[in-house]
Amino acid sequence: MNLPRIHLIATGGTIAGVADDRASTTRYQAGSLAGHALLEAIPEVHGFARITISQPFNLDSKDLGPGHWLQLARDVAEALVDPACDAVVVTHGTDTLEESAFLLDRLFAPGKPVVLTCAMRPASAHSADGPLNLLHAVQVAASGVTRQTGVVAVINEQIHAASRLHKRHTRALDAFEGGDSVIGWSDPPSLDLGPETPARLPGLLSSLSELPRVDVLWVGAGSEPDLMASSISHGARAIVLCLPGNGSLPAVWLDAVKKALARDVIVVRSSRTGAGRVTPQPGDGPMLFASGRLTPPQARIALMLALAGQLAPAHFF
Ligand code: SIN
Repeated sequence: MNLPRIHLIATGGTIAGVADDRASTTRYQAGSLAGHALLEAIPEVHGFARITISQPFNLDSKDLGPGHWLQLARDVAEALVDPACDAVVVTHGTDTLEESAFLLDRLFAPGKPVVLTCAMRPASAHSADGPLNLLHAVQVAASGVTRQTGVVAVINEQIHAASRLHKRHTRALDAFEGGDSVIGWSDPPSLDLGPETPARLPGLLSSLSELPRVDVLWVGAGSEPDLMASSISHGARAIVLCLPGNGSLPAVWLDAVKKALARDVIVVRSSRTGAGRVTPQPGDGPMLFASGRLTPPQARIALMLALAGQLAPAHFF
């Protein structure tokens, strides 16, 4: 299989940390496991990339300094110029990740992906976060989605811009959360670079005489799907479902959605959470799709304009 070739540079940190017992998340030795041991915990990684490993040091990142940074940068540079390397992944401690990440981001032009990752829980802990972080870092690097963004860090399912990375919590699993560094998500690897601007249609107004009915239905656990039939019988040509989580359709609503689609009523999956993008799911199609970054009220207006202008809804979503 012609998988991307990734060079993993392991430098230590909690991601390579080991404690005496599996419950310990604060008493452990950072930088205990070598890079190959980190990979052994995620055999699936070999389905995404062919990996080579180097280990310039294996340290708690509080003990790094300019000499280590230059060594790391030189190792990254060496891998990037190697025609047999498509991307670089670096495992690192969280405590000074932002220093190394910023330095690398300043030193390398965007191009081959450079993806750092880390962990808040030692590798020995139950529910250690390192294995998934590393797997996602490899997936992001292999996907190439960050080719134009510069150096990134993949942490807790999010892609952070190295230029804005900031550890903000001493202990929480989402220790890098809360700033403005998140530029995407790791599963599937995708960028989320701020609100999209849905298409503008300056010529449309003159042809509009009225806007069709589009309803928004708020769906709670146990909500009755017969609301769909009621909307349609009152003339709704499209329905925005304001759903739990990532626009997740409860099983009991499936039949009602199928009936709506069979009557050429468009159905959009939006979220009642108030933040984040609703992502496409298997089973979506041209008449049933995710609202993306649009809020339920915005999705409703977009559908009204699309229907009135006889435009494919893809114009707006
Ligand atoms: C370190 O920064 O090496 C230890 C702490 C951590 O990785 O979370």
